[in-house]
Amino acid sequence: MIAGIVLDADRVVVQYPGRPPVIAVDGVSMQVAAGQTVALVGESGSGKSSLARAVIGIERIAGGEVRFDGAPVPALGLRRRTQALTAIQMVFQDPSTSLNPRRRVGEQVADGIRVAKARGHAATRPEEWLERVGLPAEASRRFPHQFSGGQKQRIAIARALAARPRLLVADEPISALDASTQSSVAQLMRDLVAELGAGMLFISHDLSVVRRIADRIHVMYAGRVLESGPTELVWTDPQHPYTRALLAAIPEPDGAGAIPAAPSPEARAAWADAEPVER
Ligand SMILES: Nc1ncnc2c1ncn2[C@@H]1O[C@H](COP(=O)(O)OP(=O)(O)O)[C@@H](O)[C@H]1O
Ligand SMILES: [Mg+2]
Repeated sequence: MIAGIVLDADRVVVQYPGRPPVIAVDGVSMQVAAGQTVALVGESGSGKSSLARAVIGIERIAGGEVRFDGAPVPALGLRRRTQALTAIQMVFQDPSTSLNPRRRVGEQVADGIRVAKARGHAATRPEEWLERVGLPAEASRRFPHQFSGGQKQRIAIARALAARPRLLVADEPISALDASTQSSVAQLMRDLVAELGAGMLFISHDLSVVRRIADRIHVMYAGRVLESGPTELVWTDPQHPYTRALLAAIPEPDGAGAIPAAPSPEARAAWADAEPVER
C-alpha cells in the first residue's frame, strides 16, 4: 500500500441476481489518497452507485477487494456499517431524505461530532461546522424544512465532516440542487475535505464541475473504468474513444457538461472494445 492511500479498490465486482446476472461493476480498481478528490463519472447505469455502495460496505462484492486504511471493508448492511466504519462518511443525492425532518439541525450535526469523539477527536460545536459550510450559527436551532435544497445539502455535509471522516463518499451530491448552487457546493466539499486531510470519492455526471474540483478522474462505462488519470490531462488529452465522445458533447469548454444520451450501437460496441487507458 502506498503511504496516504485511504481507499484501495482492487478489481471490484458487483453483481445482481437475474437471468443472466447483471454485472454492475466489472473489475474496477481505484485509489483515493488523503487530501485527494477523485471523481467517478459516467452515464446513468454505468455502475457508479454500485461501486460506491461496495466502498462503504453496504453492497456485497462478488470479486476483488475494497481496502480502507489497509484493512478489507466487510459488507455489513447500512445499520451495522454506520457503527463499524464511521471513518467513512457519505453524502447522498437528496438531502431531504438523508436529514431527519423532526430533529433540529444542530442535533443532527452533533451526531457527527459524537462519532468523531468516539474515535478520539476533540469535542467541537455544531455551530462551528455550520459556519464552515457557509450557514449562520443560528441554523443550529432550526429544522431542515426551513432551508433550501442547497442549504440542506450543506447541513448534510456539515454532519458528515463533523464526524472527521478519513474518506467522504459523495454519490451525485449536487445533482438535485439548483444549477446556480451546484458548483459552489461541490467546491466547498472539495475545499473542506482537503483542509481536513480526508479523501473524497466524488460521483457526478457533471463534467464541468468535476474538472474544477477533482485531482483525478475515472471514466466509467458499462461497469468498467475505461479511462483514468489526472483530471487536466484526461480533459485536455483524452485517449479513450468514449472519453473523447463525452468531452466532444460538451457545448463549450466551460459549459455544463452532460453525458450524451443514446449514441449509436456501433459507437457503444467500439467503446466497450477499446483498451482501457490508465495514466
Ligand atoms: N439493486 C439492484 N438490483 C438489480 N440491478 C441493479 C440494482 N442496482 C443497480 N442495478 C443495475 O446495475 C447497473 C448499475 O447501476 P448503478 O450502480 O445504479 O449505476 P449508476 O449509479 O452509474 O447509475 C444498472 O444496470 C442497474 O440497473
Ligand atoms: Mg447512481
